Amino acid sequence: MLTIHVLLRALPAVLLLGACGTDPAASVAPPPTPRPGPDPWAAALRVAPAVDRNPDPRVVEIDLEARMGDWEYAPGRRVRAMTYNGQVPGPRIEARAGDTLVVHFTNRLEEPTTIHWHGLRVPANMDGGPHSQPPIAPGATFEYRFVVPDAGTFWYHPHVHETAQMERGLYGPIVVRGEREPAADVEGVVVLDDLLLGADGQIAPPGDLVEQHNGREGAVSLVNGRAGAELPMRAGQRQRWRIINAGSARFYRVALLGHRFTIIGTDGGLIPTPRVVDELFLVPGDRLDVLVDGVAAAGASATLQNLPYARGHGAGITEALDLLRVRYTADAPVPRLAPPGGGPAVAVIETGGVTPRTVTFSERIDRDAKRVVFMINERSFPDVPDIVTRVGATEVWDLVNTSEMDHPFHLHGFFFQVVSRNGLPEAAPTWEDMIQLRGEERVRIAFRVDNRPGHWMYHCHILEHVENGMMATLNVIP
Ligand code: C2O
Ligand code: CU
Repeated sequence: MLTIHVLLRALPAVLLLGACGTDPAASVAPPPTPRPGPDPWAAALRVAPAVDRNPDPRVVEIDLEARMGDWEYAPGRRVRAMTYNGQVPGPRIEARAGDTLVVHFTNRLEEPTTIHWHGLRVPANMDGGPHSQPPIAPGATFEYRFVVPDAGTFWYHPHVHETAQMERGLYGPIVVRGEREPAADVEGVVVLDDLLLGADGQIAPPGDLVEQHNGREGAVSLVNGRAGAELPMRAGQRQRWRIINAGSARFYRVALLGHRFTIIGTDGGLIPTPRVVDELFLVPGDRLDVLVDGVAAAGASATLQNLPYARGHGAGITEALDLLRVRYTADAPVPRLAPPGGGPAVAVIETGGVTPRTVTFSERIDRDAKRVVFMINERSFPDVPDIVTRVGATEVWDLVNTSEMDHPFHLHGFFFQVVSRNGLPEAAPTWEDMIQLRGEERVRIAFRVDNRPGHWMYHCHILEHVENGMMATLNVIP
């Protein structure tokens, strides 16, 4: 009996979860006996998947439409929103590494937009950034078509008027599965965000100088577009959370009282050595892939909280905020799963002989124009000179933050490794496209420029800082 149980538990999580794609092994394995208990993402936190209308198992072909809609972020509470296919977050896009993704996109908004595939290593002309394509006009369509090369947790969002479009609901999760995924009983996306509402209960219009400077944060905390949600958990169960920070400027220092997290993946997919931690930290744009084991007893509950974090200039939350209630069902416990194995090794990038480039992040107040100015190398987008490099090059950048405030750094199109922070070598590098750059910190990163020439954006992922100039271009020439 026990052996059968253990065997069933060893089946990939996808077999236990109707909602989560197909697995080639499913055709040969005996039909899985469903484990009793809830499917948490089926109800409370479910993000409806995109509908794949292509019968080819290696092609995911979907329709996506940006349009206005009503967003019910809590029972009976609705705001006028911008949506993908009428939902916030937008449809969950599921693929396997190596699949071709085709997105028939229609812009039904009254303003231009694009889609950027945050973290996907796509060709430059599919990247949705300001230099990749002209904005898609109201009423117009665009076909995105590319191969999804890497397994991991990614997301999509516009790269036009980000402060308004993303705040109002335009963002969605992307799950790309690899050949070997760690076992878990249930799995789902956890998309974090916050909403700033005006006195009328609607999403507040872009704010004053303080908001432009600090970045927008709002009092309503959201998980998968919902406030005050509950997540069922069964004692003994293992859940895999693919966490995405989609907030404009909110940083997340996340804890679940009485529980620990096992980090199994970062921006670039599974990491070689899982790490057990009490807290998670995600800057805007960041992803973490974690396992949460149901260590409490049947009937217990615990609150997922965002803990205080000061990110400079008095910005950031000063009291813990509740994000989600994890409620244990009354079901009898299931046996716990063994600790997960690691992902593929990360070969440390050889940086000897490469002259580092310095990329500084700074800010000033333009009192005459009554605006804040955020700069890269002392200039503001679009006036920052491009960094020009060639296919095949190894790049080493010293990211230097001369301001007091954190400026989380994002590079489009390439995963990089952190080499050192303030001169201290990074012990075990991982693949990232999004890292924290603290106030007055200096971080050295390295990446290889593969054969995807074109223009790639790099910027702070606090959206108000992008809007006020903290963005620039890496120009990769063939
Ligand atoms: Cu999510 Cu230009 O980034
Ligand atoms: Cu910034």
